[in-house]
Amino acid sequence: MNSLCEKQNITVLAIESSCDETACAVVKNGREVLSNVVATQIEIHRRFGGVVPEIASRNHTLAIENVVKEAMQKAGVTKEDIDAVAVTYGAGLLGALLVGVNFAKALAFAWGKPLFGVSHIKGHIAANYIGSDLKPPYLCLLASGGHTAVVKVEDFDKLTAIATSRDDAAGEAFDKVARVLGLPYPGGPEIQKLAEQGRVAFEMPKVKLGEELYFSYSGIKTFVINLAHKLEQQGAPLPKADIAASFQEAAVGQLADVTAEISRRLGIKKIAIAGGVSANALLRSRFDEMRKNGCEIFYPKLCYCTDNAAMIGAAAYFLIRSGAEESPLSLDAKATVPLE
Ligand code: KG4
Ligand code: ZN
Repeated sequence: MNSLCEKQNITVLAIESSCDETACAVVKNGREVLSNVVATQIEIHRRFGGVVPEIASRNHTLAIENVVKEAMQKAGVTKEDIDAVAVTYGAGLLGALLVGVNFAKALAFAWGKPLFGVSHIKGHIAANYIGSDLKPPYLCLLASGGHTAVVKVEDFDKLTAIATSRDDAAGEAFDKVARVLGLPYPGGPEIQKLAEQGRVAFEMPKVKLGEELYFSYSGIKTFVINLAHKLEQQGAPLPKADIAASFQEAAVGQLADVTAEISRRLGIKKIAIAGGVSANALLRSRFDEMRKNGCEIFYPKLCYCTDNAAMIGAAAYFLIRSGAEESPLSLDAKATVPLE
């Protein structure tokens, strides 16, 4: 049991540095964002076609102090207003995570506030609580650059994985296919943009909705690579917009179909989506269609889909309310964390 769980109002200062965004937010009672500052390194990594871990760590080190100061200024708070310091401890790039974890530890120690290590995965899911009244139980599709899964959120801190990806994560597939098409990193938004100019001209492999439900992106990815090779050998131009539209249709279709099937089988009609890919417009329209079948659909605001610290502050609040122990100052960064 922590010392805060019965306190009426809880204000959390949260830090996130698991990949290429240095972020800090101040969040009140898990649902109200007082400030949300994100310093992105996308432009820096773009020239390498993806995130370079060592460069990410160095840039987090350069940015973190100012990002935290700015978040406090924008929220209009001082250290006396902060009840707890929260930080993403995993999953992510170890060196990148360590910058946030060590900064958070130092703040918690210097301010005499409790520290809470938060799972990045639970953070993405908690993005759905911001500005909404969503409560468990519900199903959540998590689709990011590192994870693809449908989880049953039984309580704020109790998740059960129902289906996961057998190979690539959805966002990873968007990024890899974008690379084949010569589009810059990160590929998801670029494919979405290009797909608007194309049509679904290629039928890509689909997963079977059999007894065991799962996601798989290797078949779609290989299809695109083989198609690009074949056309190159023939000296034919690459119909990039049509490939983008066809890939997006297959990638998003799979996410929606598997989630809808799980909803049907489990009889759970409250559904949320989370992670970078949940920013995708086609994905949102597919989930909107599920409303016709009586489903209640929740999305995070676009700014809380990709990595940010507000979602970590939201997850920390519900962790604190659940009575979880505070993290020791020996809290370590973890490259992977269990989904549940
Ligand atoms: O959640 P996130 O910011 O980081 C991880 O935890 O991985 O997700 C990043 C992923 C990238 O692969 C990016 O291409 C994808 O989310 N993404 C999108 C869109 N915006 C970001 N994928 C499809 N459509 C989008 N609009
Ligand atoms: Zn993420």
